[in-house]
Formats: sequence, C-alpha cells, structure tokens
Amino acid sequence: MERVLVLLGLFVLLAMVGKAQSDWKDVNGEYINAHGGGILAYGGKYYWFGEHRPAKGFITEVGVNCYSSTDLCNWKHEGVALPVSPEAESEIGKGCIMERPKVIYNKKTGKFVLWFHLELKDRGYEAARVGMAVSDTPAGPYRFVRSMRVNPGIFPMNMSQPDRNMQWDWDKYKEWWTPEWRKAVEEGLFVQRDLKDGQMSRDMTLFVDDDGKAYHIYSSEENLTLQIAELTDDYQGYTGKYIRIFPGGHNEAPAIFKHGNIYWMITSGCTGWAPNEARMFSASSIWGPWTQHPHPFIGPGAEKTFGGQSTYVLSLPENKYIFMADVWKPDSLMYSRYIWLPIEFDKAGMPVIEWKNSWKPK
Ligand code: DGJ
Repeated sequence: MERVLVLLGLFVLLAMVGKAQSDWKDVNGEYINAHGGGILAYGGKYYWFGEHRPAKGFITEVGVNCYSSTDLCNWKHEGVALPVSPEAESEIGKGCIMERPKVIYNKKTGKFVLWFHLELKDRGYEAARVGMAVSDTPAGPYRFVRSMRVNPGIFPMNMSQPDRNMQWDWDKYKEWWTPEWRKAVEEGLFVQRDLKDGQMSRDMTLFVDDDGKAYHIYSSEENLTLQIAELTDDYQGYTGKYIRIFPGGHNEAPAIFKHGNIYWMITSGCTGWAPNEARMFSASSIWGPWTQHPHPFIGPGAEKTFGGQSTYVLSLPENKYIFMADVWKPDSLMYSRYIWLPIEFDKAGMPVIEWKNSWKPK
C-alpha cells in the first residue's frame, strides 16, 4: 500500500507543477483511461469506472472503462464496461458523449447499476440526460437500459407553492446574468421550463446511504443548481422525491461522503476544463438543509483544487476517505491526470484535504 500512495502522491505533485509526464499506468503499462470516475468496492476488490477519453477531441469513441485492484495502486484493465453502440440509432451510438460514470451494487436484485451523464450525438451538451445500464457482474459488460431526464412532471419537494405557480414571461429572461434573471433562476425558472420533459442532468454522482437508499446528485438547471433525487429500491429509476440545493450556485462535479451522521459534499465551480476554487457543503440529512463552508484544501494551489476537479470520494473502512479529482488536459483528454488525496478532519471536525507529495493510510 505504501508504494501505491507514494506513487499517487508523486503523480499528484507532478500534475500540480505541470512538469508532466509521470502518468498512472495499469499493470500492463498502459495509461489508465478512466476519467470523471468513481469506485465500486465489491467482493474484496475495487473497481474503477471512468470515461475512456480519446487522444483528440471530446466525443466518446470507446465507452465506460473499468479497472480492478486489490490495493488501490495496481490496476488491471478489465475492459470496456459499457461500449458505445455500433447501431446508429442507439442513444449511446458513436458520436454520443458519456461522462462521470458511477456504479452501485443493489443487494436486493444482485445487479450492478451504472449511471452516467449522456449527451446525444451532434447535440453538444444540450440534451443533458442521464444514462443507466445494468450488469450481473461488477466489471460488466453492462446492458444499456435507457436514458432519461429526471422526474418529468414532478416539482422538487423544496420548491414553494408560489414558485410552483409562477407563470414566467420568457421574453423577459432571454438575457442571462441580469439581477432579474438570477432571481428567476433561484425561483425555479428552469425547473418550470423543464418540468414536462424532466430536469436536466449533467455532472453527476451516486450515493448509497447506510439504510440502502440511493441518490443521484447532479448539476441541473443549465448547471446553475444542484439537485438530489432518490432512486427506487432497485436503483434503476426515480421515486419522484428530489430537492434543489443552492439555486443559482453554479456547482459541477459533485462528490459526496458521509462521516458519522454528517453528509459532506465537495463540488467545483463551472469553468469548463479549467480548474477553479472548490466548494464544500454539509448537511445532517440528505434532504438538507445544506450549509456551505470554505473549501477544504490546504497547500500550494489549494485555491484551484491543486489543478483538479472533484469526481468522487471513496469511503474506506475505519472512517478513511480518499478524495479523487481529474486534472483535465483538454488538448488530449486521454492524458488527463488524477489526484487522489486522503481526507482528514481538523479539531472542529471539518474535512481537510492537505497537499501531500506522498502519503499512505495510517
Ligand atoms: C466540466 C465538467 O465537469 C466535465 O465533466 C465536462 O463536462 C466538461 N465541463 C466539458 O466542458
């Protein structure tokens, strides 16, 4: 394990100072190509799912990649868990974009359930859908089930009756970022606009709580507002319960973990592939209220998340947590790097993520 994390730390350091080319390779010496990823712990192994990214451009050419490891350092390529489809009419046909895949295991059905951000061919980032696929085995192959918007026809639980009743005069809100527009966004302008077809879903993660309930957490409303939606018992759909958090807060890249009875969430701002100052939130119920705190990073580059953007927090036994982030290389996304750092807690119980050149779990 020691070798693992020293390697990771070195990796992080080099990523931060921008010197390049220490890259994380799998056990066969190939670049680990698993960006915007997350980890499933199952049967004594870790499975890392992430975006396979091409050397040029940002359209998905291959699909969702999967690696396995027993020590979090040495990763074996298991193959493509969900490939793009060769069928032109498929929603996941060549030309789509698959981002931020996350897999959870459903104890009741015995199925592994993969959710990911899906953009449809030739539509840029406008479709803002979420895709779902299932498998009987952790590494797949996964069978694509469907894509969707979130909870069509249903208002968020925490949207007030007056806001639900608003009749927006759309001509007044064509121009973005005016004070009137901001107020309208906070009051649910885009929730109303998307009510019939369902809420937008771009950057996303999944979270399984201690009671087995699972949640989809996603950037919605034109990336302006995060939403949290409860999943059905089989983790393959929505119950209809969902909330908005930080309307107009412009959060992407949500990563969530629970420490004791507190839910913590780390997000980024919205600056494309460029790093920015992370945000941190907490709540004592998944349904909020959520409170914002200063970001948890300490060390050179902390104010820009050490050059990275959050993607996942891996919860390990004994209250250990690993913060995972991507250092995007937009000129060649395939070579984007990874930052993994331990989450510690200060005397007041606040999460702290300190820059470390090398580290290992105590
Ligand atoms: C930022 C998001 O966090 C990424 O996942 C990706 O969607 C890029 N934007 C695309 O520009």
